[in-house]
Amino acid sequence: MRKKIVAGNWKMNTTVPEGLELAKAVAAKSAETPANVGLIVATPFTHLAAVAEVLKGSKVELAAQNCADHASGAYTGEVSAAMLKSVGCKWTILGHSERRQYYGETDAKLVEKTKLALAEGLDVILCVGENLDEREAGRHFDVVTEQTENVLLQFSAEDMKHIVIAYEPVWAIGTGKTASSDQAEEIHACIRGILAKHFGAQVAEDTTILYGGSCKPSNAKELFAQKDIDGGLIGGASLKADDFIAIAQSY
Ligand code: 13P
Repeated sequence: MRKKIVAGNWKMNTTVPEGLELAKAVAAKSAETPANVGLIVATPFTHLAAVAEVLKGSKVELAAQNCADHASGAYTGEVSAAMLKSVGCKWTILGHSERRQYYGETDAKLVEKTKLALAEGLDVILCVGENLDEREAGRHFDVVTEQTENVLLQFSAEDMKHIVIAYEPVWAIGTGKTASSDQAEEIHACIRGILAKHFGAQVAEDTTILYGGSCKPSNAKELFAQKDIDGGLIGGASLKADDFIAIAQSY
């Protein structure tokens, strides 16, 4: 049975004291979520060490939102996979559309980052998703297939045990405009088909695929009820502990 996950991506929000308050509230309420639903918070780099302490003893796992495409050295301003591991991260998000759009993240870079993350023992949440123009041009299946294959074909079935995919249609992120459960499900099924084609039926069956984009307590239940949707990557609603926990309780 593949794992259900609800992950909060805090993006560039909260100061460290605010983030600690949020993490404490999430950790405290995490016991009220179903045992079979994993919880993750992806905080800014500055918060990781302190949040790691707060999460100890709870089921909530720690993630970074990005990592460097080199192992170490003269890369000013970057944070390596080994650093993330050493501070208590279990996960890193990679390839978020905001990084692709604003920071020139390419699929080739994502291959490097994913290799480095896996080598350090981090699990990866790899984000894919089409933008509004691509959706309106009817290219959403092609775009998601290309993004998924460009990265994942460089990895093995064994590596896939440490990779979760998040489908985040760019037009639904932070816009209040959620993909309908049908729109999300058909892309999730497509991604699972890609996994089956390249890695076999078992990997396809075992890989967690999350939905992200204006997911909130009021729509999570319907989205999560879809056959191929295994949870959510939550932006705005993860900044309120009650909403984040309520989303996990949709299961
Ligand atoms: P919102 O939930 O704010 O739309 O953000 C989704 C997202 O980008 C999570 O990574």
